Amino acid sequence: MNDNNLKADMLQAMRRLAKSVTIISTSNGTERFAMAATAVDSLSTEPPSLLICVNKTASPHAALEAGADFCVNILGLEQQDLAHLCSGAIKGEARFGRGNWLTSAEGIPYLGDAQSAILCRQDGQFSYGTHTVFIGRILQIHTSATITPLVYLDGHYTTTAAPAPSLAAAG
Ligand SMILES: Cc1cc2nc3c(=O)[nH]c(=O)nc-3n(C[C@H](O)[C@H](O)[C@H](O)COP(=O)(O)O)c2cc1C
Repeated sequence: MNDNNLKADMLQAMRRLAKSVTIISTSNGTERFAMAATAVDSLSTEPPSLLICVNKTASPHAALEAGADFCVNILGLEQQDLAHLCSGAIKGEARFGRGNWLTSAEGIPYLGDAQSAILCRQDGQFSYGTHTVFIGRILQIHTSATITPLVYLDGHYTTTAAPAPSLAAAG
């Protein structure tokens, strides 16, 4: 199988991988950056850490590559408009025109009403192909009471908070 076929097959496979939608936010000290991202995962609880994968062409990349700390803001269903704003619809500081954006004591921009805002000190980076993987050592977390995540699946936004039917009920 050639690389083009593999790439197409991978994209088809990824359509089946449901991911919560986040906005990665960061600052270089003078400018703020925000980018919708699903390539985000927990890394370890010892120490509490996570990882993000950022395209080298994306606007926050230079600040992150220079070592900026960042926040992973897990979005709620009602924040679909923010995901849209932060995935290319508008650029730069204008992305902060909507949403309850705050700044942490460390100077990291975060979304005050995210499902969860996970503030991280950058603790490593690894270049791979078109992307860089950044490791975040978790500093502080703000979490909302409800769980209504915005989910990206099969190329569109959806949500899920309902448990799967029990095996017993399914017979
Ligand atoms: C649902 C969704 C998930 C995305 N996930 C990622 C991601 O994990 N990493 C990434 O680099 N770009 C991701 N993107 C693309 C960036 O949001 C988008 O390319 C970027 O904001 C545009 O670049 P700019 O910031 O330079 O305008 C995603 C876009 C969408 C709509």
